[in-house]
Amino acid sequence: MNPGLGKFILAHTPSSIIHPTPKMNTGLSLNTGTEIPALGLGTWQSAPGEAKSAVAHAISAGYKHIDCAFCYQNEEEVGEGLAEAFKSGVKREDLFITTKLWCTFHTRVEEGLELSLKALGLDYVDLYLVHWPIPMNPKGNHPLFPKLPDGSRDLDHSTTHIDTWKSMEKLLNTGKVKAIGVANYSVKYLDDLLPHATVTPAVNQIENHPYLPQQEIVDYCRAKGIHVTAYSPFGSAGSPMMKEEGVLEVAQKHGVEPGTVLLSYHIARGSSVLAKSVTPARIDANRKLINLDESDMEKLESISKTKGFTRFVYPAFGVNLGFPDKQ
Ligand SMILES: NC(=O)c1ccc[n+]([C@@H]2O[C@H](COP(=O)([O-])OP(=O)(O)OC[C@H]3O[C@@H](n4cnc5c(N)ncnc54)[C@H](OP(=O)(O)O)[C@@H]3O)[C@@H](O)[C@H]2O)c1
Repeated sequence: MNPGLGKFILAHTPSSIIHPTPKMNTGLSLNTGTEIPALGLGTWQSAPGEAKSAVAHAISAGYKHIDCAFCYQNEEEVGEGLAEAFKSGVKREDLFITTKLWCTFHTRVEEGLELSLKALGLDYVDLYLVHWPIPMNPKGNHPLFPKLPDGSRDLDHSTTHIDTWKSMEKLLNTGKVKAIGVANYSVKYLDDLLPHATVTPAVNQIENHPYLPQQEIVDYCRAKGIHVTAYSPFGSAGSPMMKEEGVLEVAQKHGVEPGTVLLSYHIARGSSVLAKSVTPARIDANRKLINLDESDMEKLESISKTKGFTRFVYPAFGVNLGFPDKQ
């Protein structure tokens, strides 16, 4: 096309067509050829008596993407919320359900998946993730967080996360997972894994917010065709990111809540995002996404540059996970 004509058309096309407002269920492409909905409901720390109603409410409010994990110890309740949604006419194929293999199950991948499927009341999940690249002793002194007598984490040195991935790949033939991926993988761990992977992870789920942009990992994943899902967008429990000055400024400019800015930040970066709430009004409010412009993104990106990094989620494994401490 004549470049002059191209410029003319671009200049006269409404910005809402060039940059359509992102929607909670906008599908973001995975390397499997399928899509993941832009916004998911998180369920970590959704307490007993809260998880079922949060999931049922979210689905009735239009959420299609629910993020779960064996380690959250609430999959049965999440399953009850899903069952309620199915009873009301929601179809399984219209939902995108993720769950995760816990660290004490790295040598029992199929068993880990079966336990989650049973608790959730599902025949398959849309995405199954290795929760952390750290195998822990399956026969230790605790089923989830085993420790050695000296108090350090009881790791399983007889296997590696690469062996785990090989078992994950086998799950694809069972029909019980539509896609497989990882979580909490730094560039160092992905560099370790990818040369051995027959199947490239579809997703890397990482802690991500303006205090922790993880640009290096986001760029690396993009280059390798791995979709990034951001977790703890509000800074996890108590939502500390909501009070950040730069976030409030952008929110005020657009006349929206800080939560909308914190969620939309990830969509602008091409990531999907998980927002946890058990409060119906917040579950509803978190559906709103907007387009952030370049100056908004610059403002949000400047936050970690001036204030440094904060990780809100970092369990003590006693292992260097390879996350950069400076960006
Ligand atoms: N792969 C991993 O290792 C990993 C690690 C962490 C998280 N995740 C996933 O990511 C999800 C989200 O992360 P997260 O749970 O750490 O934290 P988050 O979503 O950043 O924050 C949750 C907190 O924000 C509050 N909140 C939610 N919406 C709000 C609103 N509109 N206004 C004010 N407060 C609001 C919630 O309160 P209420 O619930 O009381 O309303 C809760 O205290 C998790 O639930 C989990 O599914 C994955």
